Amino acid sequence: MCGIMGYTGSKEAKYIIIKGLSALEYRGYDSAGIGIYNSDEDKVNICKCIGKVKNLKEKAEKLNLTGTCGIGHTRWATHGGVTDENAHPHKFGRVTITHNGIIENYEELASEFGIEDELKSQTDTEVACAVFAHYYDKYTDPMKAIYKAVKCFRGTFAFTIIFDDIPGKIYAVRNVSPIVAAKTEHGTMLASDLTAISLYAREYLVLGEYQILVLSPDDIELFDIKGNPLVTEYQKIDWDTEAATKKGFPFFMEKEISEQPEALKNTLEPRIKDGLPDFTYDEIPDEFFKSFDKIFITACGTAMHSGQVGKGLIEKLAKVPVETEIASEFIYDEPIIDSRTLVVSVSQSGETIDTLTAVKKASELGAKTLGIVNVHGTSIARASDHVVYTNAGPEIAVASTKAYTVQVAVFYLLAAKLALVRGLMSEEECREFIKTLQSMPSAIRKVINDKDEVHRISTKIVEAKNVFMLGRGLDYYAILEGSLKLKEVSYIHSEALPAGEIKHGTIALISDETPVILSITQEKLAAKEISNAKEVKSRGAIVLILMKDGIELENESQWDKVYRLPAAPDEFMIFTVTVALQFIAYFTALDLGLDVDKPRNLAKVVTVE
Ligand code: M6R
Repeated sequence: MCGIMGYTGSKEAKYIIIKGLSALEYRGYDSAGIGIYNSDEDKVNICKCIGKVKNLKEKAEKLNLTGTCGIGHTRWATHGGVTDENAHPHKFGRVTITHNGIIENYEELASEFGIEDELKSQTDTEVACAVFAHYYDKYTDPMKAIYKAVKCFRGTFAFTIIFDDIPGKIYAVRNVSPIVAAKTEHGTMLASDLTAISLYAREYLVLGEYQILVLSPDDIELFDIKGNPLVTEYQKIDWDTEAATKKGFPFFMEKEISEQPEALKNTLEPRIKDGLPDFTYDEIPDEFFKSFDKIFITACGTAMHSGQVGKGLIEKLAKVPVETEIASEFIYDEPIIDSRTLVVSVSQSGETIDTLTAVKKASELGAKTLGIVNVHGTSIARASDHVVYTNAGPEIAVASTKAYTVQVAVFYLLAAKLALVRGLMSEEECREFIKTLQSMPSAIRKVINDKDEVHRISTKIVEAKNVFMLGRGLDYYAILEGSLKLKEVSYIHSEALPAGEIKHGTIALISDETPVILSITQEKLAAKEISNAKEVKSRGAIVLILMKDGIELENESQWDKVYRLPAAPDEFMIFTVTVALQFIAYFTALDLGLDVDKPRNLAKVVTVE
């Protein structure tokens, strides 16, 4: 959730680290800090403050923070409030650290090491720093100090560590929370994700769990936790630096919504051969798709919403029973899973701790695991037997948009593949299905070109306190995601309901102040849903309708707004209606003057339970 950046080389570290932290700000952003080793003073100088990285930059300009080796951090508070003292880096004795994750036993450690009275903050991180310092004092060997300290910690962590008397070197160790590192022309660097590193390098290495990374100005070394050297393997960054910029859009969210046609193409095309779904690109053999009788889909938030679409489709086309369970519930439940079960996890970041823990649990229970992941080489990808990488490119806005659409697209390919290998779809039917899927980028493009029209719907909800969204069948799954999107970026309460359910309680909340958005794209359910629209209209609701072109709607002018979506077969309407719902959320937040890309309290990568 927090961001980490470190640099050692021949340039001023302050500027490089602050630039990296700005790129990481989307991960968490209630405070920020840097620690720079100053060779004249032979010590690490720290500058930290609450607020955004720009506050840190202003503060750092006024201080003497010269030096070519340092570490930085953007913090999303967990233990201890949002204060300057609680921001990272923390320093104890000769050790300075930044930390992502949570040390669960920090209170016990504080008492065990007798340091309670020396602490300046309320954080678990400062306690961890004291433990590193204790062992560094005892052994004066950084590797041994790290090994000994890490053995004391219960929880998750990615630590970057600099020692006062080891100039020019940065150490890192991790469990669960990610760290990547890279060489540049003028030094080496590490970060909690590629967005920061991609500004400077085209290749990176991933620090494995319980491995130790040592950065010097001209080299990166890797060791196991006991200090034995390991071979370093570098991977290519498969998107360009430009991909992580706004490219003229006011917000990343709008840019990422607009990128969906390309993202979809990039995800679909490598997996279609001769008009049929083909997963050899992902090194998944056809036999794999016959090796299970049941599927579990597990994920969080938006990623879970894509899984719900997947469930509907797989059950319909391939007749394989599918259960969906939110990852944070899955890990504490007793799911009925065995070697004939496939557990599919879905994650944009590939680092969500609940989803990662669910994958590990599924493997322990003997299931086969398949990850649908956007970021290469991440923990969920590494923990899964097979990975289907969505090729959405970097998603920076906290609100997920293009990552969701491509996850849904992967489920369409999977459903078709399963139906084909199980003999429930002929090749001809499958080709027709895939052809329609391939036409979705251009259908989405039409909605993008129509965004001003969709914006008019937002103007009807911008002053609302509560919004309700109704849908049936696939439309229900679409509004689950649309409703989450609206909540998270506009802070307007929104509730998605199967349209038929409104009468069973929630209609009590409908008045002339409540906008109700209906998604009506499923032909066989349309008449029923139009009746539901009338029910809320007659209670005074402001009724806004997203409707598939061609579905008949009498007396259209009686509704507050009707937006027509380009017609496609029912099961494909999810793509266009999703984009319309994303724009509704976006424009509402924009018109409210909110920081659309960085909604309050949220972080892009959720690495705490
Ligand atoms: O990185 P993940 O896909 O695993 O993240 C899961 C959720 O935190 C995420 O989908 C979240 O709900 C969205 N950012 C909301 O837009």
